[in-house]
Amino acid sequence: MKNFYLTLLLVIAAAIVSYGFIGAQQSQEGDKHPDVDWNLSCQECHSEMTPDIYKDWEMSKHGEVDFGCYICHGDGQETFYSKGSDERCAGCHAAQLVEFEKTKFESCYDCHNGHTLKFHNE
Ligand code: HEC
Ligand code: HEC
Ligand code: HEC
Ligand code: HEC
Repeated sequence: MKNFYLTLLLVIAAAIVSYGFIGAQQSQEGDKHPDVDWNLSCQECHSEMTPDIYKDWEMSKHGEVDFGCYICHGDGQETFYSKGSDERCAGCHAAQLVEFEKTKFESCYDCHNGHTLKFHNE
């Protein structure tokens, strides 16, 4: 009996892991980054292309510790989320996890600006 429960537990754990993995691989439908010179980093190019966004990010807590654009937008090639994904927040902010199904909010970005991270309207 003990083995049965252990096996069941492993199967469930494997299912959760693979579900998470598949989920993380999916880009938002139709999202495609412009074809650019990928030898440059996101920051190198976007500090010229979208200087306001770059500055907002640079001044934020994420910029301070140099946690890059890819956390939310993907690598731009295999995965790309033009509006930012909030799937990877939990890895570093387990304490701020929101049980969205219990609220009328759907995403961290309903309250936080993706670049400044500030609570909106502040
Ligand atoms: C060599 C230049 C270059 C590099 C490198 C680059 N980008 Fe971009 N990116 C652009 C340009 C140009 C645009 C289009 C800007 C516009 O339309 O105003 C863009 C647009 C975007 C957009 C908005 C897309 C949309 O549909 O609204 C995001 C988000 C973005 N880039 C993220 C990234 C991330 C993340 C990386 C690194 C993985 C990256 N970029 C690397 C030049 C670059
Ligand atoms: C914490 C998550 C997060 C990080 C890190 C992040 N972004 Fe974003 N980004 C977002 C969100 C959320 C949006 C959608 C904002 C909106 O729709 O108002 C967005 C939108 C954008 C857009 C499109 C803006 C527009 O007006 O269409 C560009 C370009 C962009 N980000 C570039 C970057 C670059 C370059 C970096 C790194 C220097 C970066 N982002 C880092 C969350 C993030
Ligand atoms: C790789 C780790 C990492 C990931 C992933 C990450 N963050 Fe952060 N975040 C940090 C660090 C480090 C700080 C600064 C912590 C501090 O000052 O306590 C921070 C700070 C913040 C703050 C506070 C900003 C402030 O000015 O006080 C917000 C809001 C935030 N993150 C939102 C997010 C969201 C939303 C996501 C997912 C899209 C995310 N983070 C993903 C590392 C991360
Ligand atoms: C219903 C609105 C709301 C949602 C949704 C939300 N936050 Fe927050 N969050 C806040 C407020 C308000 C603060 C305090 C802001 C301030 O003091 O500037 C905060 C603060 C934070 C901080 C700073 C540390 C702290 O505890 O003060 C982090 C990190 C953070 N949130 C991460 C997240 C992440 C990650 C998500 C998504 C899983 C998220 N938040 C979703 C409203 C929200």
